[in-house]
Amino acid sequence: MRLIIPACSPGQWAARYIQKTALAFFKSHPAQRFTLGLPTGGTVEEMYACLCQLYQTGQLDFARFTTFNMDEYAQLPPDNPQSYHAYMRARLFDTVNIPAQEVHLLNGLAPDPHAECAAYESAIRQAGGIRLFVGGVGRNGHIAFNEPGSAFSSRTRLVELTPSTRQANARFFNHNWQAVPTHALTVGIGTVSDAQEVLILATGESKAPVLHQLAVQAPNESCPISALKLHPRATLLADRAAAQLLPENLQRELRAQAAAHPAQDAQLELP
Ligand code: GLP
Repeated sequence: MRLIIPACSPGQWAARYIQKTALAFFKSHPAQRFTLGLPTGGTVEEMYACLCQLYQTGQLDFARFTTFNMDEYAQLPPDNPQSYHAYMRARLFDTVNIPAQEVHLLNGLAPDPHAECAAYESAIRQAGGIRLFVGGVGRNGHIAFNEPGSAFSSRTRLVELTPSTRQANARFFNHNWQAVPTHALTVGIGTVSDAQEVLILATGESKAPVLHQLAVQAPNESCPISALKLHPRATLLADRAAAQLLPENLQRELRAQAAAHPAQDAQLELP
């Protein structure tokens, strides 16, 4: 897994990376759609603002994008302002020109969540799989809503959220953690790992302990994001605050690169 501390902000870097990857894809696959996996959360808000700006300034056309979101709270209607449907409409879908039928989100109100999740997996397969999955990471290492203990082979399913995740997400629910739904529908770690490429963003000091854990531990199911150490094309994009607890030898290497080339991204392979 490659770690990059970009010279610009992770959100800007990620938006430009999506742009670059999609444009290269359209050039080499003139008849195909670019399939992108998408996250929610505070970390990726800047990325969405930059993607909207790229669209509004004519630098990126979304007409040939197909998107699959990672997750949705169970029992929240799509028009509930705290739902991930509402988050995505406000930050991306109401602004850019992805055709409505090419936007996919799990339905938290599905009467049969098992069938909903199986249909989602099948829609991803029918779209030819995900070219690039972008994600965030929870303070406890979760990716999408795969909490610690989730199998690396897990697929899209209904899960129970841990109290720590409900507390971390309480800021979107008037700081009342008990208002955060107890369950969610989420793609699995296996679903994310099947993507050709995965890009994870981590910013702020609250993510520093999990980045430390990721750097020092071998892949293990108590740290869901560590599954991506087994992926051939996974990148972790972090800011300095999130990287501050990395082992000293890695920090030294990153500092040396930043000192030698301050305008360039610092990067290394995580052990
Ligand atoms: C939620 C989402 C995750 C996201 C995480 C991090 O739990 N389901 O996909 O990675 O939040 O969120 P934030 O970026 O707000 O820290």
